[in-house]
Amino acid sequence: MCGIVGYVGKRQAQPVLVNCLKRLEYRGYDSCGIALLGKNLEIYKDAMRIESLEKSLRPNSSHTGIGHTRWATHGKPSQKNAHPHTDCTGKIAVVHNGVIENFLQLREQLTKEGHVFSSDTDTEVIPHLIEKYYQGNLEQAVSRAIVDITGSYAFVAMHVDWRGLVVARNESPLILGIGDKEFIVASDVPAVLDYTDRVIYLEDGDIGVITENALKCTSNGKQVERAEHRIPWSMEEAQKAGHEHFMIKEIHEQPRVIRNTYKGYISALEPVVNLGISKNADISDILIIACGTSYYASLVGKHVIQSLSQIPVRVEIASEFNYSDTVLGKTWVIAVTQSGETADSLRALKKAKESGCRTLVITNVVGSTATRIADETLYITAGPEICVAATKSFIAQLTMLYLLALAWSSAGVRSRASLITELRQLPNKVQELLDREEQITEQAKYLARYENAFFVGRGINFPIALEGALKLKEISYIHAEGYPAGELKHGPFALLTPETPVVALTARDNTYDTLLANIKEIKARESPVIAVAQEGDDEIEKYVDFLIRVPRVEPVFSPVVNAVALQLLAYYTARERGCPIDTPRNLAKSVTVE
Ligand code: G6P
Repeated sequence: MCGIVGYVGKRQAQPVLVNCLKRLEYRGYDSCGIALLGKNLEIYKDAMRIESLEKSLRPNSSHTGIGHTRWATHGKPSQKNAHPHTDCTGKIAVVHNGVIENFLQLREQLTKEGHVFSSDTDTEVIPHLIEKYYQGNLEQAVSRAIVDITGSYAFVAMHVDWRGLVVARNESPLILGIGDKEFIVASDVPAVLDYTDRVIYLEDGDIGVITENALKCTSNGKQVERAEHRIPWSMEEAQKAGHEHFMIKEIHEQPRVIRNTYKGYISALEPVVNLGISKNADISDILIIACGTSYYASLVGKHVIQSLSQIPVRVEIASEFNYSDTVLGKTWVIAVTQSGETADSLRALKKAKESGCRTLVITNVVGSTATRIADETLYITAGPEICVAATKSFIAQLTMLYLLALAWSSAGVRSRASLITELRQLPNKVQELLDREEQITEQAKYLARYENAFFVGRGINFPIALEGALKLKEISYIHAEGYPAGELKHGPFALLTPETPVVALTARDNTYDTLLANIKEIKARESPVIAVAQEGDDEIEKYVDFLIRVPRVEPVFSPVVNAVALQLLAYYTARERGCPIDTPRNLAKSVTVE
C-alpha cells in the first residue's frame, strides 16, 4: 500500500515531509517522491529509497508540500511512475493512495481532449482532471474531478496559484494531524506522531481544504465537523495500527484485501469475471507451481479450477518440479508467488518457458522478477506483508484463483451468478469471524500446552489443513502435521494419544459425513479434537472437545473462512507461548536461494 503525506504550517515543509515518509517506510515501498509549493512546483522523485531522495534535495524554504511512498499497482516501479504526478501545465501536483478503476477510460477521454500523460499510473488522471476543471479554485476543481472517478482514493492536491492543500477521500484511509499552526496530512498515524498526537479521521466523500491556520471539511457540498482524537500509541504501536503484532494486523486487513483483489474484475452488469486473460483453446491442461503457503493456495486452486472449468490441473512444489521429468505438452504453467522473487519458483518458471509453455504468474509485487519472466501477470492486491508468516497474501491468492476459475467456468449463468454473489459476500463473512476472534483464545490456550498436533481435512479443505499446520509450526514452534483425514489410519494413528490434539476442518459438502466418522475414530484413540465448523452445525458438537465456529458459506468458499480461523488459532497459540510471532527463528519472508 502506498503512503501519502502533506504539510502546511509554520515549519519548512521539506524536512517534515522526508521525516514523515521515513515513518511510513516499515510498510514497504518501491519508489518515493515529494513536491514543494512555490512560484513553481519543485518535484523530486526516486525509484529507490528515501535516503537517496534526501541526498538529491536542494534547500527550499516552502512551508507547503506533499510526499509519497509508492507500492506499485499500475505501472512498474520507476522514477516516471513515482508520485507526485502533475498535469500538463506543471502547476498541479497530486499524491494518491488507492486504485482508480476507470482510469483507462478517463485517460483515453483526456488524451482526446489534448492532455499528455507521462506515466503508466492510474493516479495521473487526477491532476489532469483537476487541470480540466480548474477555474481559479482548487477546492471546486477537486470536487468536480472526483465526480468522474470510480474507485478508491485518498489524495492530496496542490496548485501553484492556491495557498494550502486540498484533500479527498473515498475507501482509502486519510488522517489530518493537528499541530500548533500546522497540519500534517497522512494515510497512516505513524507519519504524524513526531509532530502531534491530535488527529482527525476523514470519512468517505470528505473533501478537506487546509491552510496554515484553518481546516474546512465538506461532504456532499455541506460543511461538516469531524471529531478530533488523541492517539495514545507509541510509534511502534502506531505502525501496527494498535495491534500487538503485524501478523494480527494483517489478518484483520483480509476483508479489505479480498475486496481489493476482486474489485475491477467482476462486471457490475452481468455475472461475468473478466481478468483480461483468455483461455486458449489450445491448452490441454494447467500446471501450477509454487512454494510454501503459495503451494497450499494452489492446491485449493486446483480443486476450484478443475471443478468449475473442467480443465485438468496439477500442482507441483517448484523445487521438486525443477528436478522432475514432468511432461509438459500444451500445458499452461501458472506460478503462484507472493513475492515474485522465490528462487525455486523463478527457476521453475524459466524451465516452463524454455519448454515452450505459455506462462502466467500470480503475484503481489509489481515489477518483481517473476513478472519479467512470465508471459502474463495477475496481481493480487494484498499490499505489503510484513510478518514472515503469510496470511493476507494467502487469502488474496485464494481470491485470485477463485476469479480464475470463475472466469473460465463452464457452469451455467445462474450457478456462476450465485458463486459471484457469494464471493462478494466473503469480506463480510471474514469480518464476522474476526469480530468474534475471542472465541479462539480459549482453544489456543489449550493447544499451547502441547508439543505435537495434527490438522485434518478432506477435499478442498485438505490444503487448509496443510496451511493450518504450517502456520502453527512456523510461529508457535509446535510440531504440526497436515493430513487428509482419511489417511490418519495409514500410519499416524500410532501417534494418537491424549497428548496429541487434532484440529479437524469441516465443510458442508460431500466430505462431511466421512469426516465426522474420522473424528469419531480419532476420539476413540483419546486424542482431543478441536473442530472448525459452520454456524448451525449442531451435530458435530456431540463428538468434539472444542469448537471454532465459522460463518456459513458455500462449501467451495469454506477454505477462506476455515483458513482465517486457523490463522487466528496459530496466532493466539504462539502468543500464549510468548513466541516472536512476526519474525520466527530461521525463516525468511522471501527465499532467494534454491
Ligand atoms: C517463504 C515464506 C513463506 C512463503 C514462501 C513462498 O518460505 O516464509 O511465507 O509462503 O516463502 O513465497 P512466495 O513469495 O513465493 O509466495
